[in-house]
Amino acid sequence: MPHSKIAGMGFYVPEQIVTNKDLEKVMDTTDEWIRERTGIEERRYAKKHEETATTMGVQAANIAIERAGLTNKDIDFIIFATLSPDYYFPGCGVLLQREMGMNGIGALDIRNQCSGFIYALSIADQFIKSGMYKNILIVGSEFHSCGLDFTTRGRNVTVIFGDGAGAAVIQATEEEGKGILTTHLHADGKFAEELAYYNPGSHGGVFLKDKPERQSNYGEEPEFGGIFMTNEMVDDGQIYPTMNGRYVFKWAVEKFPEVIHEALTKTGNVVDDIDMLIPHQANLRISQLVQMNLGIENDRVYNNIQKYGNTTAASIPIALCEAWEKGKIKDGDLVCLAAFGSGFTWGSALIRW
Ligand code: UT7
Repeated sequence: MPHSKIAGMGFYVPEQIVTNKDLEKVMDTTDEWIRERTGIEERRYAKKHEETATTMGVQAANIAIERAGLTNKDIDFIIFATLSPDYYFPGCGVLLQREMGMNGIGALDIRNQCSGFIYALSIADQFIKSGMYKNILIVGSEFHSCGLDFTTRGRNVTVIFGDGAGAAVIQATEEEGKGILTTHLHADGKFAEELAYYNPGSHGGVFLKDKPERQSNYGEEPEFGGIFMTNEMVDDGQIYPTMNGRYVFKWAVEKFPEVIHEALTKTGNVVDDIDMLIPHQANLRISQLVQMNLGIENDRVYNNIQKYGNTTAASIPIALCEAWEKGKIKDGDLVCLAAFGSGFTWGSALIRW
């Protein structure tokens, strides 16, 4: 039975660097606060009206395909993970397919936020194991800066996010013991509203009845329709993401180690066997606490949130690709990927390089 490996990777971050000092100019925050609570020093913002989640995904995908020694024609399926799509619908998968001239092949969109890349990897792995496809392009891309609240009201969310994209070609292989060894996916929708971007949406307040502080302002309503996005929501700033930061932090620190242990146990490995851990870049303090919990030394964990902020679905492929480019991942290494985020969703993957 074939299994899968990562045949090529690429990442793209926009040129514009936005430092914490730059954010100090538009909201009540400080470089010191951001560094201390998150480890972030700067992030990249995409060029408005020129770049999108799709165009950044294309940039990363071109590199991944070339490094896999393939051309666009060799790709037989696309999986695109993002929470900041170009359009509400259709998804970025078909837009990327169009931009890359891959017309006719299937394109699937994943909406699993910070865990999006692990979900995409797992789905690609299953398709390859079933024999359905041989080369699957998976992409994680985010254009957060176009949908954040740049006033002091939104500072707890806005300062942590950045834009960028990462991609990988997942390829069928018969080589024993190499490639994707296992993937584990989890979710708990009880916590959906703890980190959410629920307007514009068709919910009409249905799930927020017991949370009056989060109820949307629908204003004067016509008899039919008119709940998706109202002027009142825009005026009240209800069109931005909301996050119960402390709550998310607490759960992340618990679920990361749990899902890493799950992958290790499934494959008969232990923490000491991990050569490189690539945690989703949520917050440097979360990564450090997870690292401490597992007892892993610094040179076996790769973090780059300091430079790019939290890029949600793009953070793992950007970090994985950058670590590989720097020679920190070598042939035969055991690489562990792990994510936690909105949903809540979380997951892990173990790869023998
Ligand atoms: O990848 C998706 C998953 N997301 C995460 O993993 C995020 C997890 N959570 C976190 O990373 C942290 O909760 C944050 C970095 C978002 C916030 O840090 P915190 O230590 O939990 O701060 P807090 O929200 O409890 O706020 C503490 C104080 C508050 O002021 P008061 O009420 O104590 O006077 C906030 O208003 O810090 C204030 N604050 C800020 N001050 C300066 C919140 N954001 C900022 C800011 N600059 N940007």
